[in-house]
Amino acid sequence: MISDHQKGKMRLQVRLLGLLAVITACKCSYSPEPDQRLTLPPGWVSLGRVDPEEELSLTFALKQQNLERLSELVQVLSDPSSPQYGKYLTLEDVAELVQPSLLTFLTVQKWLSAAGARNCHSVTTRDFLTCSLSVRQAELLLPGAEFHRFVGGPAETHVVRSLHSYQLPQALAPHVDFVGGLHRFPPTSSLRQRPGPQVAGTVGMHLGVTPSVIRQRYNLTEQDVGSGSTNNSQACAQFLEQYFHNSDLVEFMHLFGGKFAHQESVARVVGKQGRGRAGIEASLDVEYLMSAGANISTWVYSSPGRHEAQEPFLQWLLLLNNQSALPYVHTVSYGDDEDSLSSAYIQRVNTEFMKAAARGLTLLFASGDSGAGCWSVSGRHKFRPSFPASSPYVTTVGGTSFRNPFLVTNEIVDYISGGGFSNVFPQPSYQEEAVAQFLKSSPKLPPSSYFNASGRAYPDVAALSDGYWVVSNSVPIPWVSGTSASTPVFGGILSLINEHRILSGRPVLGFLNPRLYQQRGAGLFDVTHGCHESCLNEEVEGQGFCSGAGWDPVTGWGTPNFPALLKTLLKP
Ligand SMILES: *[C@@H]1O[C@H](CO)[C@@H](O)[C@H](O)[C@H]1NC(C)=O
Ligand SMILES: *[C@@H]1O[C@H](CO)[C@@H](O)[C@H](O)[C@H]1NC(C)=O
Ligand SMILES: *[C@@H]1O[C@H](CO)[C@@H](O)[C@H](O)[C@H]1NC(C)=O
Ligand SMILES: *[C@@H]1O[C@H](CO)[C@@H](O)[C@H](O)[C@H]1NC(C)=O
Ligand SMILES: *[C@@H]1O[C@H](CO)[C@@H](O)[C@H](O)[C@H]1NC(C)=O
Repeated sequence: MISDHQKGKMRLQVRLLGLLAVITACKCSYSPEPDQRLTLPPGWVSLGRVDPEEELSLTFALKQQNLERLSELVQVLSDPSSPQYGKYLTLEDVAELVQPSLLTFLTVQKWLSAAGARNCHSVTTRDFLTCSLSVRQAELLLPGAEFHRFVGGPAETHVVRSLHSYQLPQALAPHVDFVGGLHRFPPTSSLRQRPGPQVAGTVGMHLGVTPSVIRQRYNLTEQDVGSGSTNNSQACAQFLEQYFHNSDLVEFMHLFGGKFAHQESVARVVGKQGRGRAGIEASLDVEYLMSAGANISTWVYSSPGRHEAQEPFLQWLLLLNNQSALPYVHTVSYGDDEDSLSSAYIQRVNTEFMKAAARGLTLLFASGDSGAGCWSVSGRHKFRPSFPASSPYVTTVGGTSFRNPFLVTNEIVDYISGGGFSNVFPQPSYQEEAVAQFLKSSPKLPPSSYFNASGRAYPDVAALSDGYWVVSNSVPIPWVSGTSASTPVFGGILSLINEHRILSGRPVLGFLNPRLYQQRGAGLFDVTHGCHESCLNEEVEGQGFCSGAGWDPVTGWGTPNFPALLKTLLKP
């Protein structure tokens, strides 16, 4: 006897055979990512074309279902005034909701196996497939693509990429969002060492930002650490063969830790953690995430692209989709110019953030280190937003400096703090009022042709980003700066708040923005002084936006005052 399910499957098989015939018969094709930037990023050189027999690992992003429903759900799950607040979905619930139709899954699978793709792996949500192909097979499968090997980045990483765009059969348009592993180069960190200010006087002074300085400024006491009696955890992600050494962490805590309980080692490394030298970025993230979110179990996602033809950021997203128990807070210091990424990619990555929000994960991204940014479009200068900072489903962290660099004083804008308005994502409703208020009250706005006032505005919050001490490869390094520093600090503080929420039986914070804007930045120190950098021309003279009272696109709502923030975020 044949069940209805089997009958359905048989009908589908028949349809599939028809579809495959169409794919092979019709030469119609389309370009899924016509707007992806295809120039070689600075610091990378080509080593020439790749041998046709070499193996590649490509990732296929399959079209998902019920995305409207997903966005409605995220809205109610993260709105504290909703009865569904905090009733997060499990990974399996998310899979049930968004997984591709059987037709999509089987169509793509058949197309791939007909092309000789091997070892295809999917994830729990079934909306990605990673497969092995030879270069010859991949270039036949994706007409237009031409794979070269490139070397670059701080660790002289080798990658295989195509600087030519690829086509897909027209019949796949309803089934595939984009193919990963062709175009985007591993992200580079813009972390920098800035010369320290001249020292004058000594009494009560600090010589740069350390955990004790952070904890003093943000009012964290010795008791404000993880209790060890919950399964609370936090994570940071590294993408460019950036390793950390546990011995650096130990030395760092010894030199700068001061009096607070902390963990001596990272609890779990996901991905590849090579034996190479430690990267400053990785050392910084681990050392400050573990000193702000002190005594909380910490994971590191390390260079998750294991193959030369994988995009490490995309592989990190795949890992999130393949693990049902994950840390609650993730901090990421990765960003690209929004205009350099294809809209297919940006939209899909944004959906991935929405899925994380539905699960109650808090994703924090650095706002970038070029202020408002600058580029020229047909001879006219404009600010240049950065992504994922501009996604409406992540919390974006800007940067500040101490007013007096040697004292624990009020904070002012760090001029590098990334901020501005997306040209891709419309303004989410949670921030409309705050942004309107800023646009109305800011005494000197840049010319309106420089930014898109209707876009998602960022950052949402900020923390110190200037003059950090880091220990890397056993060497203490001063004056490390960037929003890569403020992001793990803010992340660690949110983990401490999650700790209290878990201990009192409340759901974790999850996607914070709706709540943050509803509470109008309660529990944060408002940063009201300073402007960030932008285009060096006569029109704006290097100045982007300026901070002021309330929310602004330079420091968001401001920097954490832990006891006050805990009080307001512990309510419902
Ligand atoms: C996802 O996890 C499953 C089960 O652990 C594994 O078989 C699969 O290879 C993973 N997928 C990817 C893309 O790594
Ligand atoms: C926190 O720190 C600020 C300034 O550093 C201080 O004014 C305030 O009284 C402190 N305590 C609380 C509970 O906010
Ligand atoms: C720190 O965490 C450990 C468990 O990892 C726990 O035993 C200890 O009590 C915690 N320290 C404090 C001060 O809460
Ligand atoms: C922590 O425990 C809760 C409840 O048992 C579970 O749902 C969650 O997945 C656990 N989280 C981690 C990171 O293990
Ligand atoms: C401005 O942002 C909106 C989305 O909010 C977008 O649709 C529009 O294309 C953007 N305009 C420009 C000039 O980029």
